[in-house]
Amino acid sequence: MKTTTRRRTARFLAPVLALALALSAGSPAQAEDPPLRDLADRHGLRMGVAVSAHLLDNARYAEIAAEQYNSVTHENELKWESVQPQRGQFNWSGADRLVDFARANGQDVYGHTLVWHSQLPSWVADGGFSAPELEGVMEDHISTVVNRYADDISHWDVVNEAFNEDGTFRDSVFHRTLGEDYIATSLEMAHAADPDARLFINDYNVEGINAKSDGLYRLASSLVARGVPLHGVGLQSHLIVGQVPSSMQANIQRFADLGLEVVVTELDIRTTTPASEQQLQAQAADYTRVFQACMAVDGCGGVTVWGVGDANSWIPDVFPGQGDALPYDHQYDTKPAYWAMHEALGGDGDPGPGPDPDPDGSCAVTYTVSDQWNQGAVINVTVRNTGSATVDGWSLAWTSPTGQQVTSAWNATVTRTGSTVTAEGVSWNRTLPPGGSATFGFQITHQGQVDTPDAFELNGTACD
Ligand code: XIL
Repeated sequence: MKTTTRRRTARFLAPVLALALALSAGSPAQAEDPPLRDLADRHGLRMGVAVSAHLLDNARYAEIAAEQYNSVTHENELKWESVQPQRGQFNWSGADRLVDFARANGQDVYGHTLVWHSQLPSWVADGGFSAPELEGVMEDHISTVVNRYADDISHWDVVNEAFNEDGTFRDSVFHRTLGEDYIATSLEMAHAADPDARLFINDYNVEGINAKSDGLYRLASSLVARGVPLHGVGLQSHLIVGQVPSSMQANIQRFADLGLEVVVTELDIRTTTPASEQQLQAQAADYTRVFQACMAVDGCGGVTVWGVGDANSWIPDVFPGQGDALPYDHQYDTKPAYWAMHEALGGDGDPGPGPDPDPDGSCAVTYTVSDQWNQGAVINVTVRNTGSATVDGWSLAWTSPTGQQVTSAWNATVTRTGSTVTAEGVSWNRTLPPGGSATFGFQITHQGQVDTPDAFELNGTACD
């Protein structure tokens, strides 16, 4: 709440604290697995969780929320019906409780949400307000809430779920009364209340490239072009096991190319319940896919998961027979999905105790002669980032016998100088997130000798 000048500092202190703890923890071989928040801090990423304030009474729930995440989102307590259930009557108890918790634990707060057709009290939805009256109601709500938490909330989902599945605007009291400009108006109001807040539009089924995300993209482009204070888009990402859109990374990229931040705001990946071991493994692979899509794009700010554990997820209430969608189970124990996030962020992804891999980055290479004839050969190479930091632009070098010439290459630019061969990533595979890999190939001519090199350097550092 607006009582001190602690704005945003907590988030940036966290890595310093983590480093101090790591230094005092003894040799790395004895280290415990680092929590997700420490791994995420190394990348400057948000690793958030949706929290229900009243569930903080459960000690295990509170412990996970505090130890594993560097950001929290109110699952319900900041929604209009919670904060201003009657006109002019504001109730801050639930919202304050989580903000206090975040302060105590050095966490950022991601604000959710200001203008939404759902969980909207009937005095607004059915109030029969004229356009100027409704703008007054919005202005009062937005400025009061944003102002109160200006010291604590860095990002806001200003408008939630504004679109239909076909990319047109959803019918709501806001759209009916004010037309599509209610979105720009809401953003302007939030910006006036806290000029430092990063302002987002958030929606579901916009994770891949489709009609709905095209609608969001058109709106975002036009708001940016008009100079409306929009800083990002939230992809809710309530996904289904086996159905992470293959275009998710490209979709994140196109919003990032507008200069916007993209955050995965409400990740859960549901399955039929109870989930089998096989479904849990498939789910883990899907968590990896989401993290890789985010971490491959510079403008992706991070991921928030929509709940601490399966015991309290919203999914079974809304999608009967489905659930088990989160990284912790009904007993608040870690699931394969947890370790998938851990590994994607550069941890060892293994339930056993550390050690944590080298945070400076390292690599593994497979080099395969896939075809060979008299004086020619085709070679395929996969380079994998086994470090914990994203490699932004890779160059892989090795030596090969004289007499070989590179005649063609695909998925990389391959050149030879003296006995050194160098391969460089191309635009679409130049970024290697932790755990990510690129595969390329080339053809050579030779004078009878095709050996397999066993020493490679990635950006000048030797690979394993
Ligand atoms: C859900 C909460 O998780 C539930 O507890 C509540 O009953 C309904 O809302 N999209 C959103 C979130 O933006 O606010 C929703 O949260 C889930 C879908």
